Amino acid sequence: MADPALVRQTGDEADAAFREDILNGLSSIPKTTPARWFYDQRGSELFEQITDLPEYYPTRTETALLTAHCAEVGKVAGPGRAVIEFGAGSAAKTPHLLKRIDPAAYVAVDISGDFLRESTAALALDFPSLPVRAVEADFTHPIELPRLAGHLPRLGFFPGSTIGNFEAAVAVDLLRSFRRSLGDGAMLLIGIDRIKDPAVLIPAYDDAAGVTAQFNLNLLTRINRELDGTMPVEAFRHLVRWNDDAARIEMHLQAARDVDFTVAGKRFSMREGETIHSENSHKYGVRDARLLLRAGGWSPCREWADADDMFSLILAEAM
Ligand code: AVI
Repeated sequence: MADPALVRQTGDEADAAFREDILNGLSSIPKTTPARWFYDQRGSELFEQITDLPEYYPTRTETALLTAHCAEVGKVAGPGRAVIEFGAGSAAKTPHLLKRIDPAAYVAVDISGDFLRESTAALALDFPSLPVRAVEADFTHPIELPRLAGHLPRLGFFPGSTIGNFEAAVAVDLLRSFRRSLGDGAMLLIGIDRIKDPAVLIPAYDDAAGVTAQFNLNLLTRINRELDGTMPVEAFRHLVRWNDDAARIEMHLQAARDVDFTVAGKRFSMREGETIHSENSHKYGVRDARLLLRAGGWSPCREWADADDMFSLILAEAM
């Protein structure tokens, strides 16, 4: 299918949600913004650049795991499944899975519609006989799957350790929502980043070329553009912390001086050194990851990791 249809489930609703999330987040103490708003067109492009950075080990490590183990995923899951990818983005890892498992359909779900349209069009060219659909939607809400996935058994695909961007309670709710969307008999292939030395973790989120800094700061540019904001982008710095108690990398936008600005007509001020907490990236031990999946309604049945135990790829079945 050369021109995959784009099913829109967002639009005006997404604009309203962005406004509400940002205004609430900037009004809270401490200031915080949900990480899902990083991914406008520019943010999605910057994220793709991050995945190629030498310091950002998750993408290449997970890709090697997919290349090595997806044939076994295919054996365990069996042929003829509809693969539903949550947060597909560039769908760069998808071919590694699709070419090894004999799927019956592929559905890519992502909040960034234009970006998704480009990536699924490219994918449809590589897999000409596979029905492909793109759904522009926020996967943190229940998703109505396109009809072509209707009668097929499903395999959810949630790579990249995106699950780590949610607090544990929200991650459990998300896994439960996937379980409901995918139905009985479904399986889930998920990538989960491991806890490791902060000397490895910090540079992965604070790279020498400054791409992750641009990714973080792009949120302010987006706020200025879409919410009629006056945030002085040059007065903010990219700040990365390892929070050991919470087992997570935190990204913040730190004011380098006192600043006053407006967003959607509302006035805000920040003192020098104050931050906007813009992302969490939780890391999981082996048992923590299994526990998280079980709490979310999924029973792990196969698990693979690289030789250095940097990253886990887990296949689970719906409980
Ligand atoms: C999408 N997500 C899993 C990435 C991560 O590692 O938490 C987002 C990211 N933020 C900064 N670098 C990458």
